[in-house]
Amino acid sequence: MGESAAAAKLSRPSRASLAFDPGEVRQQFPIFRAPRPKPLAYLDSAATSQKPDPVLEAMARYYAEYNANIHRGIYDIAERATAAYEDARRRVAHLVGASSPREIVFTRNSTEALNLVAHAWGRRFLEVGDAIVLTEMEHHSNLVPWQLLAQEKQVELRFIPVTGSGELALETLPELLADGRAKLVSVVHISNVLGTVNPIAEIARTVHAAGALLAVDASQSVPHCPVDVKQLDCDFMAFTSHKMLGPTGIGALYGRRRLLEAMPPFLGGGEMIREVKLTESKWNDLPWKFEAGTMPIAEAIGLGAAVDYLEGLGMAEVFAHDRALAGYAMERLAEVPDLVMLGPPADRRGGVVAFTLGEIHPHDVATVLDDEGVCIRAGHHCAMPLHAKLGVPASARASFHCYSLEEEVDTLVRGLHRARKVFAR
Ligand SMILES: Cc1ncc(COP(=O)(O)O)c(C=O)c1O
Repeated sequence: MGESAAAAKLSRPSRASLAFDPGEVRQQFPIFRAPRPKPLAYLDSAATSQKPDPVLEAMARYYAEYNANIHRGIYDIAERATAAYEDARRRVAHLVGASSPREIVFTRNSTEALNLVAHAWGRRFLEVGDAIVLTEMEHHSNLVPWQLLAQEKQVELRFIPVTGSGELALETLPELLADGRAKLVSVVHISNVLGTVNPIAEIARTVHAAGALLAVDASQSVPHCPVDVKQLDCDFMAFTSHKMLGPTGIGALYGRRRLLEAMPPFLGGGEMIREVKLTESKWNDLPWKFEAGTMPIAEAIGLGAAVDYLEGLGMAEVFAHDRALAGYAMERLAEVPDLVMLGPPADRRGGVVAFTLGEIHPHDVATVLDDEGVCIRAGHHCAMPLHAKLGVPASARASFHCYSLEEEVDTLVRGLHRARKVFAR
């Protein structure tokens, strides 16, 4: 057993205290009830999660019973639709501990939420010669918007390096902030490749002491663990519904109220205005100032139902389950010859385990696994610079959510042994 797998064994959290039974939870997800030749071993929840009945039912009920546009109609079903949409915002605000639902802006996904900050905050508040600090483990969604902004505003991009154990070299952060030119630091909370859980509250202390702002890409944390924006003390936070048992097409940006108030709109159009003249307009209040055009109403309602579902399970319990399964997976994967896992031990990661298997390309690994009904992600997982840093062009990744089972990990391990035989030279 390799060193990191040994550490994982010692630190594997107990599943005995779980408040829910993942096997029972699984029954509430229609995709697992659908008949198929081989049982589905869905190990790609970091890419997108499956959806439980209550989410699908809430969306269907909206379309079947009170489909109408929001914030406009003065009739019963339009008022019901508006109330359901705004109720979803309240649930999301509660989930992440925002002071007010006004601090939650609905977007299309995390990517759009991060672009919103780059455009609306960055264009207004950055000047030539300023800097933005990112990390080497970012998803492209938290890199490319800043690259575009950096080119436009002649702003420097700086990076917190990733260490050999797949964690942030945080001792470099004070130095990166020392000249006072860095105005914003944007960091992923849980890496979608390494699973690393970054210490956001600690980062926030250093960032704020230097007078900068902190944005957090919480795409892999809000869906899986307790997150409180006040405890983390972040200024912006982006997350995405489809990874948290909700539908695609909706995500959210949390922003401190005074910052959102000071920012100009991102997109212009209907709903985001208070008054329009031919040559100028006045903006609506928060959060609607940032919600131009008809929003994804059914999707917001579905997200609200997903939040209810997750809170019903308990976010701490969901995280305990994910981590226990990551620990189990790391123990079992250590049995596969030539397999190298990326990232830290199980007690410092979420429910994500990426690995390489000798010289076999991850796409080939995924193809063999597909024959066994196992779904994993193979490639660079939208983190090309991180893979370059790790010295591997691509990796295979298994990732978990509340419905994931040890049996699925066992099927994965059997499939990996088979892949080795298929590609034996
Ligand atoms: C860490 C991280 N950030 C951002 C994203 C982007 O999410 P979306 O495509 O929903 O905007 C993902 C999705 O894979 C992710 O894992």
